[in-house]
Amino acid sequence: MTEVLLVAHDGAVATLTLNRPDKLNALDATLLDALETTLEELSRDPSVRAAIITGAGDKAFAAGADIGAMATFSPNQAKKMSEKGQRICASIEEAPFPVIGAINGFALGGGCELALACDFLYASDRARFGQPEVKLAVIPGFGGTQRLARRVGLGLARELCYTGETIDAQTALRIGLVNAVVTPAELIAKTLAVARNIVAMGPCAVTACKRVLLNGSDLPLTEANELESAAFATLFATSDQREGMAAFLAKRPARFEGK
Ligand code: COA
Repeated sequence: MTEVLLVAHDGAVATLTLNRPDKLNALDATLLDALETTLEELSRDPSVRAAIITGAGDKAFAAGADIGAMATFSPNQAKKMSEKGQRICASIEEAPFPVIGAINGFALGGGCELALACDFLYASDRARFGQPEVKLAVIPGFGGTQRLARRVGLGLARELCYTGETIDAQTALRIGLVNAVVTPAELIAKTLAVARNIVAMGPCAVTACKRVLLNGSDLPLTEANELESAAFATLFATSDQREGMAAFLAKRPARFEGK
């Protein structure tokens, strides 16, 4: 049987590839289970310091939750799937390492929501984004209404969610949904290069940065700045801080150990 989720390691960078290309990587129960388990495992593995999520094939990152499976859901089954999708997105958002989305094609519905849970996104010029659930007479269920509004602002999120219309990669770049648009051939190389750059930094500092940016984003500035100060101070109890600063002063490369 083909694995629905491929996991590859390049040093400290793990790449997860959604692998149902003939179904445009639609997120069925098997793929969601695989994502949940794999994210849990990677988050416990100190050797992983960044992750990339992408889709197999040249058409889709993920064209949403699997409509065939959902078509006859009861409200209770729908609630369970929504909660599972929200758990998975939270585990991406709260992973102890940055997760970069490499969006190679359609990122629709649950696929767009998965992308929105990533720390940031690069897109191929073939990518299209949208929350088309209203066309099926439902709404996003994996946290999309909330994360889309936080990422691109309430007005644009409302327009996208109410109309179900999709936007192209250049529009996604203009509204700040993605950080860069590249050709399909460049997408993985660019994303991997950035991930390799991140994993060469002080690991505790990158994790602390992720936590402060995430946890501070919904707080009043004064409280968010307190989080920043506390994390800044904690890093001065790490040997990596001593090493990073000593290496700078000695004009030599730093050797970080993640402690
Ligand atoms: N769930 C289940 N299967 C899906 C799917 C989804 N979300 N999206 C695509 N597929 C399947 C199609 O049923 C088709 O399977 P088949 O070959 O067995 O018939 C295959 O993937 C290819 O999709 P197809 O629709 O033929 O490709 P297309 O290029 O004509 O259209 C899309 C691409 C993305 C515009 C179209 O597939 C689409 O609208 N998908 C649904 C998007 C959506 O509403 N997502 C939110 C779900 S809540």
